[in-house]
Amino acid sequence: MPAALSDAAFLRACRRERAAYTPVWFMRQAGRSLPEYLTARGDTAMLQACLRTDLVVELTMQPVRRYGVDAAILFSDIVLPLHAAGLELDIVSGVGPVVASPVRTSADVDRIPSLSPEQVAPVTDAVRALVAELGATPLIGFAGAPFTLASYLIEGGPSRDHARTKALMYGDEATWHALAGRLAEVASTYLRLQVEAGASAVQLFDSWAGALSAEDYARYVLPHSARVLGSVPADVPKIHFGVGTGELLELMGEAGADVVGVDWRVPLDEAARRVGPGRALQGNLDPAVVFAPWPVVAERVRDVLRRGKAAEGHVFNLGHGVFPDTDPDVLARVVDVVHEESRG
Ligand code: CP3
Repeated sequence: MPAALSDAAFLRACRRERAAYTPVWFMRQAGRSLPEYLTARGDTAMLQACLRTDLVVELTMQPVRRYGVDAAILFSDIVLPLHAAGLELDIVSGVGPVVASPVRTSADVDRIPSLSPEQVAPVTDAVRALVAELGATPLIGFAGAPFTLASYLIEGGPSRDHARTKALMYGDEATWHALAGRLAEVASTYLRLQVEAGASAVQLFDSWAGALSAEDYARYVLPHSARVLGSVPADVPKIHFGVGTGELLELMGEAGADVVGVDWRVPLDEAARRVGPGRALQGNLDPAVVFAPWPVVAERVRDVLRRGKAAEGHVFNLGHGVFPDTDPDVLARVVDVVHEESRG
């Protein structure tokens, strides 16, 4: 890795080293909030777009150009590797991932294919092209964690309460572990391929893990996510994120994260106490705050920065993804405030 890249503020913060300023990027920084995204995507279906090298490169670069964020995140989706491996699913606009035949029995689990490198060649080609274009700006690769992927597969689509997922977990533990094990293997392969192609950090999205108690998370989920994170080379920073995970922050760190992602519900100073020493934090401006008048936004950004000082390393982000109707000019100003204020 070139020295300028290895020394980037984002990677330094992930490694809990002093950085010249607090690095910032936004989950879902590429997407419908950007007019240039809508133009470039046109009527290309989401999963099709994720397998077109030229589009992946362009859509990944757009927020880097516009905002001057300190990291790029690969334009892809958590269900992309399952789709590429041959599982029948789609991403429906305004809904999310929808699965043709839900997975609920051990026979269903057996139909989950494994992922081979050539199936995601357009993605790894895009990673290589991006690393060349990004220079000293790090590229974050990512995958969906076994619980969050399993929820889409078991429910057949997005779910508020994850009731069927929990019913399988609690009622048929062997089938649950078989399913989570397969999904861990797919996620590990997808992350390994992105890292081999040049991604310099990874994020494991367990977006819906906050639906579980700490006890159930530790028993049914943590071992599988730990396998995924453990499969990534030690020198590649690993970020582990979920929504509503205030009660799980310590366990999500123990699963093997260098950086624990925090949503907007737990202030970062309290999150640092819960996570304990030896890990950095990422977060956690409420993504809805950007709709408030600018002085309120600026004060909230400063508050996140102040509280983030309690962590051994801080990567500024939203507490969840950018809402599609967010004004990109406000996000650009947030980046500027984070950089100016944290330079001290
Ligand atoms: O962050 C980025 O800019 C990188 C791209 C990215 C996408 N999905 C692109 C996308 C990332 C990191 C994801 C991860 C993802 N996908 C997660 C974890 C992050 C989170 O939000 O918690 C989850 C749960 C999914 C599943 C998924 N895919 C959802 C819930 C949706 C939104 C459905 C909708 O239309 O509101 C998608 C589709 C999706 N993934 C879009 C994008 C840009 C929208 C596609 C469109 O333009 O229609």
